[in-house]
Amino acid sequence: MKKHIVIGVSGGIAAYKALDIVSGLRKRDIGINVILTKNACEFVTPLSFQTLSNNYVVTDTFQEPKAWEVEHISLAKKASLILIAPATANVIGKVANGIADDMLTTTIMAARCPIVFAPAMNTNMYNNPIVQENIQFLRSKGYYFIEPESGWLACGDLGKGKLPKPEVIIEEVLKHMNQNQDLEGKNILVTAGPTVEAIDPMRYITNHSSGKMGYAIAQQAAVRGASVKLISGPTHLQCPPYVEKIGIQSAVDMQQAVNANFQWADIIIKAAAVADYRPIEESKHKIKKANQDITLTLTRNPDILQELGRKKANKILVGFAAETKDLISYAKEKIMKKNLDFIVANNINEKGAGFKEDTNVVSIIDKEGNINHYPMMSKVELANIILDKIKDRSAIMNSFR
Ligand code: PMT
Repeated sequence: MKKHIVIGVSGGIAAYKALDIVSGLRKRDIGINVILTKNACEFVTPLSFQTLSNNYVVTDTFQEPKAWEVEHISLAKKASLILIAPATANVIGKVANGIADDMLTTTIMAARCPIVFAPAMNTNMYNNPIVQENIQFLRSKGYYFIEPESGWLACGDLGKGKLPKPEVIIEEVLKHMNQNQDLEGKNILVTAGPTVEAIDPMRYITNHSSGKMGYAIAQQAAVRGASVKLISGPTHLQCPPYVEKIGIQSAVDMQQAVNANFQWADIIIKAAAVADYRPIEESKHKIKKANQDITLTLTRNPDILQELGRKKANKILVGFAAETKDLISYAKEKIMKKNLDFIVANNINEKGAGFKEDTNVVSIIDKEGNINHYPMMSKVELANIILDKIKDRSAIMNSFR
């Protein structure tokens, strides 16, 4: 099927450069729909984009619809990717704050395809902490950004904020388009969040996992076309679109859910923080306080990943390791013991790594002993690195199309 891109042009001096982007993409036989914001129409004309895209141009939410379908929904569904170039501070801020008050922002809000922003603005605006926070927030939610270049800006200032050359933007867009749907046909099972081990009807043992890492993996795997099931302990997170969530409480619940889906899965990624121990007995009634100390006896929980490792066959198995010391040696031990393809090791003492953060700092170690260390990045970016590694391994194992 022919690929289709929606290009959103917002109101900045660089808007004219979007004409070359449209033309370059059209030459690659990609269908284009352009949405111009009201402010963009002050810099460029719909007619130029209509001519170059060979398609009607949308400029206003309430214009006469070209078809019976609701315009922003039909464009959002049709798009293999949405590019916003140039993206102003205003449009970035709107999307980051859930504002959908025109054709471009409503289309972005309704889309499930990759969305790529190419910001261009005055350097002080770009460096403004509010704009930077909005960008970081959107990155953490899975939106992509093409870094602006440094140089003389239209306003006469020198600094970062220039829209990169159309060739650079086209290359980035093609990269994201090729990545799009590259996991189609794969069944991916992800575990996320903590487990909760009951002491009595009021109390439990758990850990600090927020589920962010596992949910980011599930979300990106779905964006890239995989069928995804997410087995999750209690978290405050929303299930990502097109992901089937199976909620669990305890490690034993998780074991049952994982086993029930083992045959279905081609790939299993265990990002959950599973409690190694649970109270040997769950008291039916609230344990009442007394004058003497009490002892809570714990028993071992099943090691779900180790069990999977024993029956893995040609499935790809990825584990996580969270440690406070000797990270690499413990992680290597886990690869062997649990028969993993690779492990993602995070030192939870490190700033920006591990539990609750939107970012992580990890080393990935494979069963052949290769180690890659990664700088701090968003959990969404890391999710894509993990999925890329899985894709590479799949190709090696000849199970990839
Ligand atoms: O959820 P976030 O707040 O985003 O935080 C992310 C995270 C720190 C929880 C995540 O990145 C992570 O490191 N998860 C694994 C934490 C952990 O429990 O590590 P572990 O070293 O105890 O376990 C190693 C592996 O065996 C893990 O893949 C774990 O899911 C699995 N395991 C562990 C114990 C057990 N009984 N059964 C298991 O399957």
